[in-house]
Amino acid sequence: MQHSDLTADAIVLPKVVTPDHPLVPKLSIEEETALKNHIKDLLKRNNAVLVAHYYTDGKIQNLAEETGGCVADSLEMARFGMEHPARTLVVAGVRFMGETSKILNNDKRILMPDLSATCSLDDCCPADLFSAFCDNHPDHTVVVYANTSARVKARSDWVVTSGIALEIIKYLAKNGEKIIWAPDRHLGRYIQSQTGAEMILWPGSCIVHEEFRAVALQRIRKLHPAAAVLVHPESPHDVICQADVVGSTTALIKAVGNMPNTEFIVATDAGIFNKMRQIAPGKTLIEAPTAGDGATCQSCAHCPWMEMNSLQKLAHILETGENEILVDAELAAKASIPITRMLNFSKMIRL
Ligand code: 13P
Ligand code: SF4
Repeated sequence: MQHSDLTADAIVLPKVVTPDHPLVPKLSIEEETALKNHIKDLLKRNNAVLVAHYYTDGKIQNLAEETGGCVADSLEMARFGMEHPARTLVVAGVRFMGETSKILNNDKRILMPDLSATCSLDDCCPADLFSAFCDNHPDHTVVVYANTSARVKARSDWVVTSGIALEIIKYLAKNGEKIIWAPDRHLGRYIQSQTGAEMILWPGSCIVHEEFRAVALQRIRKLHPAAAVLVHPESPHDVICQADVVGSTTALIKAVGNMPNTEFIVATDAGIFNKMRQIAPGKTLIEAPTAGDGATCQSCAHCPWMEMNSLQKLAHILETGENEILVDAELAAKASIPITRMLNFSKMIRL
């Protein structure tokens, strides 16, 4: 088939290779404290700030906050990095987060603990195939999730994160625009159902959220009838249908703090429990069930790429300057347009 004939049904996604969960050497309390102090010192010496995602190891999240950095969702990570005066941003998360930081901060050095920490959404949306798909629907506005490569972002009209996708699509639909949405089909379907927008969906998915299972969730809800169900919208439709709250990582964390319930069943990466426990220490958090358990599930609700971040690697990159994220300047300039459009839109709606 010619690329020029490419319709959504005809897309054959590349096979995503999931890494094994990394084995992180266990440290004694004394060793861990010494390592954290070493990283704190290195951050100062490098004029660097640590920006971490909620799915990374709790130790990294806490260190980011203790050292004046931030732990946040992908939208806030991008905003924080732009506004902070540090010359080096150390991004603990997955590759697209470091790339977004570089695109927005061309004059800063961006380091990441592991450059092979990718994301199944990014991997299932190769730029050439995606570009051909867009060329085949020239009358559509191209909206891509932040979980994509710089080249895919550069081919888009808007970049969105789960924290702002709904508002942006509502706005575009109101203007009568037809939309190409990529790469997460579950998030796309959810947004379509909420907005009524005319959308063509790229058939990608997140291997972590895709493993949550509706039937098993029904069972666990029966055991905990007073629990509120919190679901990230990258989860399958029949899981989302059972949610009391559907939202970005930040929205789910806020729900734990604000809702009167004392029990929550949470369908997203379990790294998020670190922040949830901090803001609501007395509440009970239950992991939503996944496709299997132990050796039989692919992710077991832990993103294997987020797990590639470790304290040891943080120290290493700050000592050596290795793992710098570089994005070609011309490409970065193109990709920054749809990201900046999102950031400006989010400022406008916050006002
Ligand atoms: P958030 O934008 O909600 O932080 O999500 C990012 C992500 O990768 C979810 O899997
Ligand atoms: Fe990507 Fe899913 Fe991991 Fe988020 S949890 S980084 S969407 S693979």
